[in-house]
Amino acid sequence: LIIMINFINMAFKRNILITGGAGFIGSHVVRLFINKYPEYRIINLDKLTYAGNLANLHDVESASNYTFVKADICDFDKLIDIFSEYKIDGIIHLAAESHVDRSIKDPLTFARTNVMGTLCLLQAARQMWEECPEKYDGKRFYHISTDEVYGALRSDGTYFTESTKYDPHSPYSASKASSDHFVRAYHDTYGMPTIVTNCSNNYGPYQFPEKLIPLFINNIRQGKPLPVYGKGENVRDWLYVEDHARAIDLIFHKGKIADTYNIGGFNEWKNIDLIKVIIKTVDRLLGNAEGISEHLITYVTDRAGHDLRYAIDSTKLKKELGWKPSLQFEEGIERTVRWYLDNQEWMDAITTGEYEEYYKMMYKG
Ligand code: NAD
Ligand code: TYD
Repeated sequence: LIIMINFINMAFKRNILITGGAGFIGSHVVRLFINKYPEYRIINLDKLTYAGNLANLHDVESASNYTFVKADICDFDKLIDIFSEYKIDGIIHLAAESHVDRSIKDPLTFARTNVMGTLCLLQAARQMWEECPEKYDGKRFYHISTDEVYGALRSDGTYFTESTKYDPHSPYSASKASSDHFVRAYHDTYGMPTIVTNCSNNYGPYQFPEKLIPLFINNIRQGKPLPVYGKGENVRDWLYVEDHARAIDLIFHKGKIADTYNIGGFNEWKNIDLIKVIIKTVDRLLGNAEGISEHLITYVTDRAGHDLRYAIDSTKLKKELGWKPSLQFEEGIERTVRWYLDNQEWMDAITTGEYEEYYKMMYKG
């Protein structure tokens, strides 16, 4: 058996562990890597929390260079087993609790997965890689983070750059900030070849419908209220998820060790303006008069500690590695709305059954 495992491990040029591959962004990264790199074996490690959904990968799950492992990144012993079984040489770490509203209700789960889970993964990688004769040569630990670690901007045209001071406000962003620090500490202390990227808000297919865009598309379709926090004046910088996945691919292969890259869309929208675009698009694609669903807009109590504005300056990534977003926002939104309307079974499987209780908890109509 050991001979067979060694043979399979050697048959692939690289063995890449992607954590959180059953989630929104992770599933796009897994798909891109499986299709673009048949010479790599992609090991998707995911705990399958409420946000993990293997249906996000239905089109690639039988690929010969793909393996799924159900595991918790906090389970150190299991990580060690996975590292030795698959001879992992690259890690793209996306597994996380990712929703700010949940972090306000249940911060401990965020500290457990985002902080302790990332630390377990770092420590497992360190232990396994330091035992190899070649040590850290050819290895890479790439940590996916968020622009939310930088805090909030005023509406004054300033941007987050790679040197903006960390100033997280929510339990979610505080847990991500902490994990970023641990990743950098593993480089500085042990020489682990790490990279961190901080990306702005993503949108596109397969996003869990607790996040603004899929939640609102689905509620408009069902004629349910659209809960706008506060006055709807908060600003987010939106990037199509496949553009983020392309950036991750580029940075994983060409990014400088120990460096940080900001990834963003140069695409700022005030929530209420974005919501009106979504309403118009859904109305039109459903054959209704554009804007007829605006009456669903319902202003609700603001999110506690709600950051006013996020905006990323991704000039460094453009200059150094030549990346820029490929999609215009209008096209991205059109594609996204169309995808959710064409994939109602995917949505309905989530919003009924076990997720109903969660929906009730979050007061989403
Ligand atoms: P998501 O919530 O859709 O998916 C997270 C995945 O991680 C799920 O599949 C879940 O099952 C898995 N997971 C959670 N806890 C785990 C654990 N303890 N062990 C193993 N797996 C676990 O999240 P997403 O929106 O795809 O975000 C992915 C990453 O990108 C996160 O690290 C997030 O902080 C970061 N990010 C997200 C955005 C965004 O707009 N969504 C923007 C910037 C950065
Ligand atoms: P969200 O998709 O949760 O992403 P993030 O909080 O990480 O930016 O929210 C995007 C914006 O939309 C944010 O300003 C909060 C707001 N929002 C609402 O107004 N209503 C909602 O029901 C949700 C989920 C978000």
